[in-house]
Formats: sequence, C-alpha cells, structure tokens
Amino acid sequence: MKRVLVSGGAGFIGSHVTVELIEAGYDVLVADDMSNCDLTCYEGVKKITGRDDLPFVKMSFCDMEATDKLFSEWKIDAVIHFAAFKAVGESVSDPLKYYGNNLQSFINVLEAAKAHGCRNVLFSSSATVYGEPEELPVTEKSPRQPSTSPYGNTKQICEDILRDSVAAYPQIRGIALRYFNPIGAHPSALIGELPRGVPNNLVPFITQTAIGRRECLSIFGDDYPTPDGTCQRDYIDIVDLARAHVCAVARMLDEKMEQEYEIFNVGTGRPLSVMELVNAFQKVNNLKLNYKIAPRRPGDVTAIWADPTLANEKLGWKATRTTEETLASAWAWEKHLAGK
Ligand code: WQD
Repeated sequence: MKRVLVSGGAGFIGSHVTVELIEAGYDVLVADDMSNCDLTCYEGVKKITGRDDLPFVKMSFCDMEATDKLFSEWKIDAVIHFAAFKAVGESVSDPLKYYGNNLQSFINVLEAAKAHGCRNVLFSSSATVYGEPEELPVTEKSPRQPSTSPYGNTKQICEDILRDSVAAYPQIRGIALRYFNPIGAHPSALIGELPRGVPNNLVPFITQTAIGRRECLSIFGDDYPTPDGTCQRDYIDIVDLARAHVCAVARMLDEKMEQEYEIFNVGTGRPLSVMELVNAFQKVNNLKLNYKIAPRRPGDVTAIWADPTLANEKLGWKATRTTEETLASAWAWEKHLAGK
C-alpha cells in the first residue's frame, strides 16, 4: 500500500483528508505539532475509519532534524502539507510568526522529501492568492494579486517555492490546490472545525451563535456591490474538499500528471452571499439566528468564486454536497461539541 504523510493532519482539513485517504485504500501517517488543535479530530478519525493503529507523530516541521528523522524512519510516497498558521488577522499583527512558521516548515518538508525519495508534494494553497479578482469566476490562469495579509502572502510564496523546486530538482514534483471557503463537517459529526477562541470564519461563528456560545453574529457590511449587498464566496464542503486531495494524490501516484507542477482551484463554482448562507442555515436547521449588520471588515474582498473546470476534468473531481447538507453537518458538529 502507498503511504501518504499528512502534515498538520490533526487539524480541520487534515483530519477530513486523512479519513478519505484511508477509505480510498492508502496508508496514512499523521504528524502535527498540536499548536492549533487538540486530539479531538485525530480520535474522531480513528473512530470513523476503525483504524486504531493510525500512526501519529507529534512534531514541528520547523524542526529540520525531526522532519528529516520522520522521512528516514517512514517510507513516504506522497506528502500533503497542511501544517501552517492560518488566522488572517493574527498574521497582520504578528507577521514574523507567520513567515517563520509557514515558510520554514514547507522548506523543511521539501528538503526532506527530496533527500528521502518522496517525489510527490501536494501543497494546501488558498483562493486568497487571487485577492480581489478583476474577472469572475477565477480560473487557475487568473492573476494572483498582492496579498492583503502576511498569511495570504505565505501561500503565494510557498506556491513559488514549490514551483521553483520542481523546476530545479528532478526528485520533486507538485500540485497546489487552491481552496475557496471550506465549511461543514464529516456526516458522522465526529470531526469538524475546532476554532480556538473567537472564530474568525463565518460558519463556525454562525454555529456558535446558534448554540448560544456567541451572543450575536455580525454581518460585516451589506453595502457591497453585490445582489443583496453582502460579500459573495464559494463555500466548499469539507468532505468534497478532502476528496479532491485523494484525486490529486492518485494523479501523482498513478503517474497521470501532465506537468511537473500543476495548480487546481477547488471550489463549487457557485457564489453564495453571507445573507444567503445565513438564510440557508436558518432554513435547513429550522432555527432563528440572532444577527445584526455591522461595518465592513478591512481586507475582505467583495466577491470571489471558482471556475472548477480544470479540477473537474483533470482530477476527475466535482463538488457534490449541497449547501443545505453542508450547513446541516456544521450544525450537527456544533451540537456534538456541546454534548447535545
Ligand atoms: C467569509 C465572509 C466576511 C465572519 C478566509 C481566508 C481564507 C481561508 C478562509 C483559512 C466574508 C463574512 C465572516 C463573521 C461575517 N482561510 N463574515 N461575519 O475571509 O472569505 O477567507 O478564511 O483557511 O484563506 O482568507 O472567510 O469565513 O472569514 O468570511 O460577516 O463573523 O463572511 O466578511 O464576507 P474569508 P470568512
């Protein structure tokens, strides 16, 4: 069986990807420094898959010695790199924490992969590299814009590090997946998003408001040039997103790549406004959400959504879950966390 290393694999996206990789027949090695999560999702993955022996290594990929040791002790056929800090606001207030961690960890992974015969590197990138797009929907050829946050900038820089490494070293090839807005939780409600402190992202703030952990959802601006005045995003179900990673790993391991470095948008192709999402959440979960209109949040783009054609065609992947299913799964997860 081929083995995939999932760095940051105890986190929200990493744990969902681990489930789908195991269910697709891969061996998985999870490694995480636990700086932004606890073992809830790792334990949930074991329950969902029945793999009590799922290997886990607590380590930081900023530690080159530990990273090299991992690649020398385990035969790794592909690595999916999630291990990074991801809070946009924090990256503005503490940029060195973000450049130091997000860049060094990825460089170490590439160095170790190159040294230990792991040719296949899958990088967790983000639609944030497109900034405020001039044209919609965005394709992989849409221009990247100067990032509005150090977090987003680390995503652009890591894409370039992967691109340049592939060009220079025959031992490395790579795929970057540009996620739009991942939301929801596994249908089992055993894994999901576990934001620490006050959630930055919309859907966890909604579910925490609905469960009573937050007083009121603030909708950041209803005066944007969009149909209902609120920002539009491409909300991609976390299980659909995870399955895109399995397709990308298969593309690499089954020698289907057409270039040594490939980029794919992972989105639904459907724009949804904040107000539409709030209304859909209330409707599918049959509840009334307490919300108010608040001032715009600095740095927010008005609208962005994907043209997912390339991923549909080349990865053989398409988002299948409906917004309603996804928002019901997010609510089920929040209730699970509350012991309901
Ligand atoms: C979505 C919309 C907000 C919270 C960021 C990163 C991206 C990825 C996902 C990390 C916006 C509005 C939000 C709230 C609101 N990051 N909103 N009230 O900013 O599109 O993307 O998170 O993995 O790389 O850029 O996501 O969920 O923060 O915001 O009105 O309490 O919801 O203004 O329009 P965003 P988000």
